[in-house]
Amino acid sequence: MQANVVVVGSLNMDLVTRAERLPRPGETVFGQAFGTVHGGKGANQAVAAARLGASVAMVGCVGTDAYGVQLREGLEAEGIDCQAVRTVAQGASGVALIVVDTDSQNTIVVVPGANGCLDAQDIMTVDGMLQGAKVIICQLEVPMDTVGHVLKRGRELDKIVVLNPAPASGPLPVQWYALVDYLIPNESEALALSGVPVDSLESAELAARSLMALGASNIIVTLGSQGALLVSAQRVVHFAAPKVEAVDATAAGDTFVGAFSAALAAGKGEDDAIRFAQTAAALSVTRAGAQPSIPGLQDIKDFASS
Ligand code: RIB
Repeated sequence: MQANVVVVGSLNMDLVTRAERLPRPGETVFGQAFGTVHGGKGANQAVAAARLGASVAMVGCVGTDAYGVQLREGLEAEGIDCQAVRTVAQGASGVALIVVDTDSQNTIVVVPGANGCLDAQDIMTVDGMLQGAKVIICQLEVPMDTVGHVLKRGRELDKIVVLNPAPASGPLPVQWYALVDYLIPNESEALALSGVPVDSLESAELAARSLMALGASNIIVTLGSQGALLVSAQRVVHFAAPKVEAVDATAAGDTFVGAFSAALAAGKGEDDAIRFAQTAAALSVTRAGAQPSIPGLQDIKDFASS
């Protein structure tokens, strides 16, 4: 089946522990448990879109190690087309070292491994897949040149192009802004891109407006329990977040992006897609881990009727 959402991005095995609190520099703390969990921002977004009704294809790279096999099989079990997930000879798959504290906050160190091998040739090979998509999603855990290539091609093909600029350590190439329909940063990514510290709705709007001045069209700043702020030339709208008991915020942003894209692909309007994505993200924080935490359509229905 032709995928209506194509995700170009990372697949990681998450090495996760929970600790009373996150260690300070130079400090050792005890973890309470350890587990390996399927993750990677790209793969998480693909899983969210698939569980929430889209037909999805993943474009990325894994290594020849056992993690690579497990990550691919995990996505295939979700019904995600993995023909364009390339196994990189002699490479290690991406991993992420994650610590989650009792306040559900986390720190993440990503070692890209095979994700760093995704190149423009991989994207040219899947041009037919991009042509058939309605929505194309990128993040920043694969090489920037590759992301730039996808954004440009997505714009040429007149697709809905979604960029989750995560992780972000500084400004984006300025020519990217005009290539993206929806830019979805969280607070820290909005700061990295704009230089404006974001800790309120007002500062989120300020940051988004400075990105609009660079050519961005629709910016959705995700603000955790403070909801999300949509800023475009036409309007600024705050969407309050559903209230939930948070356990682990890992992949909440990914769930938002995947759910939002699935909703757009299904023909929902912008506001409905944002509310749908917020519910999905809120449910994801009530569960531990990246992909295991991502809800399905039935979970959203149950939440709506609760
Ligand atoms: O956004 C959460 C994800 O970031 C984790 O699954 C981890 O793999 C890192 O990519």
